[in-house]
Amino acid sequence: MAELRTARAEDREEIRRIDLATWSPRVTPGPRPDGERDLLEDFGAANVIVAEAGEGLAGYLILGAWTKLDSSRHVLEVKGLAVDPARQGEGVGGALLDAGIERARGEGRRKLTLRVLGGNDGARRLYESRGFEVEGTLRGAFLLDGDYVDDHLMALDLTT
Ligand SMILES: CC(C)(COP(=O)(O)OP(=O)(O)OC[C@H]1O[C@@H](n2cnc3c(N)ncnc32)[C@H](O)[C@@H]1OP(=O)(O)O)[C@@H](O)C(=O)NCCC(=O)NCCS
Repeated sequence: MAELRTARAEDREEIRRIDLATWSPRVTPGPRPDGERDLLEDFGAANVIVAEAGEGLAGYLILGAWTKLDSSRHVLEVKGLAVDPARQGEGVGGALLDAGIERARGEGRRKLTLRVLGGNDGARRLYESRGFEVEGTLRGAFLLDGDYVDDHLMALDLTT
């Protein structure tokens, strides 16, 4: 089983490899990463949890403030979650999400939010298995590969 820890600078290439390997218009509305995208720089290594497995990484989870406002400091957001396609279905994604939930609770947050595209049923089932609920749906929010796709806003109540 993978070992979870906070990301370090030397994880940059492995995170980029997994980012590129997992990108598809089915899971993210942004354009295909150009190979230059640096998620550690964009989000800060301290906000990234990685799953270490043997030689490389099996996956990563990115956390961040939901907004920049002080009035929403009690809300944390999952900004990204990806597992190496070769390691999917082994429980890595669930373990990363559990670590994110634990960190959010430890920081005293009241709510953990995320967004998932309509059609990304595997990810949605994973979130639901951890108690996340759909709080709202932005219908037809993105035009992806010729289809208008919903954006579901999900959240986990950490106060209970
Ligand atoms: C979504 C993702 C992170 C799941 O990671 P994973 O390591 O394969 O997930 P796990 O093995 O921990 O699965 C945990 C649970 O999630 C659900 N699940 C995950 N992938 C699934 C799939 N393809 N189909 C059905 N259920 C799935 C299952 O309920 C599973 O429970 P189980 O252990 O009882 O089978 C991974 O498939 C991935 O990287 N996908 C591409 C990127 C992505 O979609 N990220 C989320 C963007 S919102």
